[in-house]
Amino acid sequence: MRFDIFTLFPEMFAGPFASSIVKRAQEMGRVEIALHDIRAYATDKHHTTDDTPYGGGGGMVMKPEPIFAAVERVLGERLSSGKSATPSAEIADTVRSYDMGVPIILLTPQGRLFTQSVACELASHEQLLLICGRYEGVDERVREHLVTDEISIGDYVLSGGEIPAMVVVDAVVRLLPGVLGDPAATHNDSHATGLLEYPHYTRPPVFRGWAVPEVLLSGNHAEIARWRREQALRRTLDRRPDLLGSADLTPADRAYLEKTSSLSEKDFGSCP
Ligand code: ADE
Repeated sequence: MRFDIFTLFPEMFAGPFASSIVKRAQEMGRVEIALHDIRAYATDKHHTTDDTPYGGGGGMVMKPEPIFAAVERVLGERLSSGKSATPSAEIADTVRSYDMGVPIILLTPQGRLFTQSVACELASHEQLLLICGRYEGVDERVREHLVTDEISIGDYVLSGGEIPAMVVVDAVVRLLPGVLGDPAATHNDSHATGLLEYPHYTRPPVFRGWAVPEVLLSGNHAEIARWRREQALRRTLDRRPDLLGSADLTPADRAYLEKTSSLSEKDFGSCP
């Protein structure tokens, strides 16, 4: 899978992409990440990438021209690779339709909320383009005529889309087949099942007087599975009861939740 990231601060990505899973995925050839400096596509002498807003008001707005130019270059390269016979005017027309099946995503607090299911959806593409907004915002024509999707990583405002782009890349990369050593590793992740994950313990069995729950040392796999499921349910009920409405719950799960709380059946919604 290939990620093309458009940013005014490519140096911000050096640390996160050179460690851990994302680094390994690149070394394995499973993931390719290309960083594109938007400033390099500004054609004026000062490489201007922002300007004051029409209509007044504070702050600066990112100009459309360098963003369009950078994205068109990448889409054009994709089209022309292996198709050198295609006339360049035809390539330019196709590129300008921005309808090549490649998501062009603007990271913005105004986007749809990034969740595990959005990460799964994005992981099914072979290429993603991520545009990192900055300043007060991005010229609206980028939204209207270039991007195909807008994503927010949460209801708070960061200084730009760079950290959100890193979040998206990390969450998507670990879902790609072959990236995590254990193929089952993501199955029980918090949110993957619609519930928060159960608690984990490792050696020593007693640390400063705090013992690991006995059932985990019992060797009884059915009991362990039941304990984990109940812990996940209880934890979700305590911390994120909003998730229970859309979680895939069995009758046994519902019975456990009813026993554990005073919530009634209807509060859990219905299974699909
Ligand atoms: N840019 C600034 N804040 C953001 C957020 N919460 N999500 C995505 N992009 C952003």
